[in-house]
Amino acid sequence: MAKTTLAIVGAAGRMGQMLTRLAADMSDVEVVARVDVADGFDAAVPAGTQAVIDFSFHAAAPANAKRAAEIGAAYVLGTTGLSADEQAAVDAASATVPVVQSGNYSLGVNLLVELVKRAAQVLGKDYDVEVVEMHHKHKKDAPSGTAIMLARSAAEGRGVKLEDCVCHGREGIVGERPEGEIAIHALRGGSVVGDHTVMFAGDVERVELVHKAQSREAFAAGAIRAALWAVGRKPGRYAMRDVLAV
Ligand SMILES: NC(=O)c1ccc[n+]([C@@H]2O[C@H](COP(=O)([O-])OP(=O)(O)OC[C@H]3O[C@@H](n4cnc5c(N)ncnc54)[C@H](O)[C@@H]3O)[C@@H](O)[C@H]2O)c1
Repeated sequence: MAKTTLAIVGAAGRMGQMLTRLAADMSDVEVVARVDVADGFDAAVPAGTQAVIDFSFHAAAPANAKRAAEIGAAYVLGTTGLSADEQAAVDAASATVPVVQSGNYSLGVNLLVELVKRAAQVLGKDYDVEVVEMHHKHKKDAPSGTAIMLARSAAEGRGVKLEDCVCHGREGIVGERPEGEIAIHALRGGSVVGDHTVMFAGDVERVELVHKAQSREAFAAGAIRAALWAVGRKPGRYAMRDVLAV
């Protein structure tokens, strides 16, 4: 069986190294390029590469997405913290190639996203939603892409737009909690791979849905699975829920 050829962007980073290690143990993929900040994408990625997996830096995503589209490679984006303009550039690439984007590629978190939606539907606005995330001290963006995914899922479950009700942390005399608010809090410290808790706090009980990533392998395995799934698909924007068919 022919191997699917992959380029890893952000190859020297925490995720890039994990992707490289994991791919080396897989019989159905071959890493043909490892690109980091000092390498030029053009020089490093051979024509015919079937998928580009990008876990680098938000500012790099537009150029990487454009290059993936130019060489006809599926683009699997794990990098988080994109601005609206950077996101628009990634969306533009999806007119030409399949683009999979997820704030979290682990199976467990993608299940959690569904569970949060269901909980929000059932519990309704009487249960205040607070999303708390913790990551290692080197993480550059906040809140995490996963926390945003989870908060968005709670909003979807309630039938509202996250942008209309989100609150990022609290400080000072903030007054009583407005009804319907969905709050996100980002903690940073040590070597935590990624913890997320979604709380539904009612007057008489509290429901907490928790995910703790123990290894970056959870994200890397999902991203390679997404790349294998995306190669040969028609151009468009895809999420991990498409890959997992959840
Ligand atoms: N979606 C997910 O499941 C998931 C999981 C973990 C991390 N992430 C995200 O992935 C990204 C990387 O995380 P990390 O912990 O590996 O970070 P990291 O800082 O360890 O690694 C990032 C790497 O990208 C490189 N880089 C920066 N600009 C580049 C460019 N223009 N071209 C090529 N390489 C470039 C850096 O030199 C570095 O080696 C972050 O945005 C993080 O939030 C997503």
